[in-house]
Amino acid sequence: MKTKIFTGKEDLIQAARIINQGGLVAFPTETVYGLGADALNEEAVGKIFQAKGRPGDNPLIVHISRPSEIGQLTSKLSADLVALIDQFWPGPLTFIVKKKPEVPRITTGGLDTVAVRMPDNPLALELISRAGTPIAAPSANLSGRPSPTKASHVREDLDGLIDAIVFGEDCRVGIESTVLDMSQGTPRILRPGVITAEQIEAVIHRKVALDSSLLTENKEEGSLEGQKEDSSAPRAPGMKYTHYAPRAEMIVVEGPRHKVKEEIERLKKVNEKIGNDVGVILFEEQAFIEAAHDFFAKLREMDEKGKDIIFAGALSYRDGVGFAVMNRMLKSAGYNIVRV
Ligand code: TXA
Ligand code: MG
Repeated sequence: MKTKIFTGKEDLIQAARIINQGGLVAFPTETVYGLGADALNEEAVGKIFQAKGRPGDNPLIVHISRPSEIGQLTSKLSADLVALIDQFWPGPLTFIVKKKPEVPRITTGGLDTVAVRMPDNPLALELISRAGTPIAAPSANLSGRPSPTKASHVREDLDGLIDAIVFGEDCRVGIESTVLDMSQGTPRILRPGVITAEQIEAVIHRKVALDSSLLTENKEEGSLEGQKEDSSAPRAPGMKYTHYAPRAEMIVVEGPRHKVKEEIERLKKVNEKIGNDVGVILFEEQAFIEAAHDFFAKLREMDEKGKDIIFAGALSYRDGVGFAVMNRMLKSAGYNIVRV
């Protein structure tokens, strides 16, 4: 298949036509690039799983262009949900809600809930609105690879496998949306993102829970203990699969900042001596937003440069954004952690 490259707003008419005909179009959002298909067309959604090599029980996020369109996907909106939509949409916050029967099971990985979000990107909103249908879109990478934050990343992974790519700017946020389960009882964060539990709590005036796959009971403030893999079944099915893995082996070095730097220097030297090409990922202290923005692009850069081994300095996070970046970093490294 020849993948069309669309670069202008005027191309969105064609892109929307492809969606309406059951094809696949990758497009930019503020978080990462998405791989879109008509969310209500089973056959079209099936092609997403095929192109990405994505397991069929990993549900997709459905993207809409106006808050009111959520009514096509779910029937009851709680007061909390309405308040959160008002505050955070368009933006990097996805809600899990009970689905209407019209939403095909293939879109929700067989679940009776659906994930919904209104992205904050003009090209994305125009594409969805022109298509006149909600668009299901996971991140536009091959399953298991780092999420794409530039159009060139999408091309790297999916050229020849999908109908078109809408080339937009590099993604502003750089990590995927916060996923918040609003389908039962206490709202629960299933995947952390740049919209934090504290920000959500400030709007709904009640506690938000973190899914057990993200936290353990004895979590100490700022410690990685809270982000160990957990044997209990995660509620966001996607969280259980290998994620974001660079081709190189990756190791996270955790500890006080100066010690982390020293240890990475030492490990680098030792590894270079035995002929390894070593990559280092070390963000400025407390620069969580920048870390989110750059992290996935850095992983891909390491692959491009053919690094054999990557040492990444753990962020000593004090806020939810740092926590969200560490979630990605630990997954990329397969929970390979050295403590100093
Ligand atoms: O920022 C984002 O969210 C990007 C852009 C393209 O919007 N999309 C994205 O989609 O990251 P994806 O498919 O890579 O991740 C979706 C996550 C997965 O962890 C999936 O398991 C979870 O959301 N999810 C989707 N529907 C769900 C549901 N009904 N119940 C629980 N988790 C769900
Ligand atoms: Mg993904």
